[in-house]
Amino acid sequence: DWNSGNVIAEQVEKIRAQIGSSRVISALSGGVDSAVSTALVHKAVGDQLTAVFIDHGLLRKGEREQVENDYVASTGVRLITVDARETFLNALAGVSDPEQKRKIIGREFIRAFEKVQSDLIAEAAAEGDPIRFLVQGTLYPDVVESGGGTGTANIKSHHNVGGLPEDMQFELVEPLRTLFKDEVRAIGRELGLPEAIVGRQPFPGPGLGIRIVGEVTADRLEILRDADAIARAELTKAGLDNEIWQCPVVLLADVRSVGVQGDGRTYGHPIVLRPVSSEDAMTADWTRLPYDVLSKISNRITNEVRDINRVVLDVTSKPPGTIEWE
Ligand code: XMP
Repeated sequence: DWNSGNVIAEQVEKIRAQIGSSRVISALSGGVDSAVSTALVHKAVGDQLTAVFIDHGLLRKGEREQVENDYVASTGVRLITVDARETFLNALAGVSDPEQKRKIIGREFIRAFEKVQSDLIAEAAAEGDPIRFLVQGTLYPDVVESGGGTGTANIKSHHNVGGLPEDMQFELVEPLRTLFKDEVRAIGRELGLPEAIVGRQPFPGPGLGIRIVGEVTADRLEILRDADAIARAELTKAGLDNEIWQCPVVLLADVRSVGVQGDGRTYGHPIVLRPVSSEDAMTADWTRLPYDVLSKISNRITNEVRDINRVVLDVTSKPPGTIEWE
């Protein structure tokens, strides 16, 4: 029967046999799958692995620190962080269309990854030890969905900003190919990874970039990050993390609303809470959160986050509404 310790031992053996003494690269996103696959490969081959984390500036509060501090502390992985925040903001300037945002974010992600990758390849080649392998956090459902193909970097385009260029000459290391999500989490826990990463709810690759309705700016990202942090903290405090599938928090940057705050009239923006319950994200229902929790979140956001004078609740199921607003 299924036992996370056995799976780890088995995968470590397999990974060693595949990689030998070569070098290997992995892209960390802050999500569960890349965190666990990277940790497994590190357990198998140690510092032959370099992990790369691209900070595109569209992350939520604390996520970079979770990777740079907690994840590195718990695994000992050699990590390179690329600060690409400026580049992404510049590329997104003036863009409001959701599909265009997704394309730009995907393209910039690949560019940033290719840059650090070519540095690493040059470094490794200088030492006569080319990098031949790339880690991917492909799960069993992904394998089934994409027809069971193997070996090359073919990744669902929509759902992976970690989607990598097609002409890349890497062999893939995919230690999660036979596993389901809950098994991946169990393995992550067994490996001692931070709960904030292992227990993380789904978060889209394009990040907060598709949770700002309107143009993405540094200022708006800061506002949304603060509001999102409050909503997440209160949901966790109320013990509701297991009731909800995820709860996007969306900034209606192109909408303005009138409020009365402190000494007078304000003209700010609404924030949307989008709590959903789901099995697989294909369909979803809006979660009936307790009124006192909603009230707490609303009070805190309007009191603590500048420019926000209204909190609204999305009560649409999927279909017809998608989970994300963009
Ligand atoms: P929708 O909005 O399509 O979302 O109902 C379904 C699930 O997918 C996530 N999502 C994404 N994940 N890249 C991702 O990696 C994306 O571009 C993307 N768009 C949506 C969403 O958070 C939900 O879990």
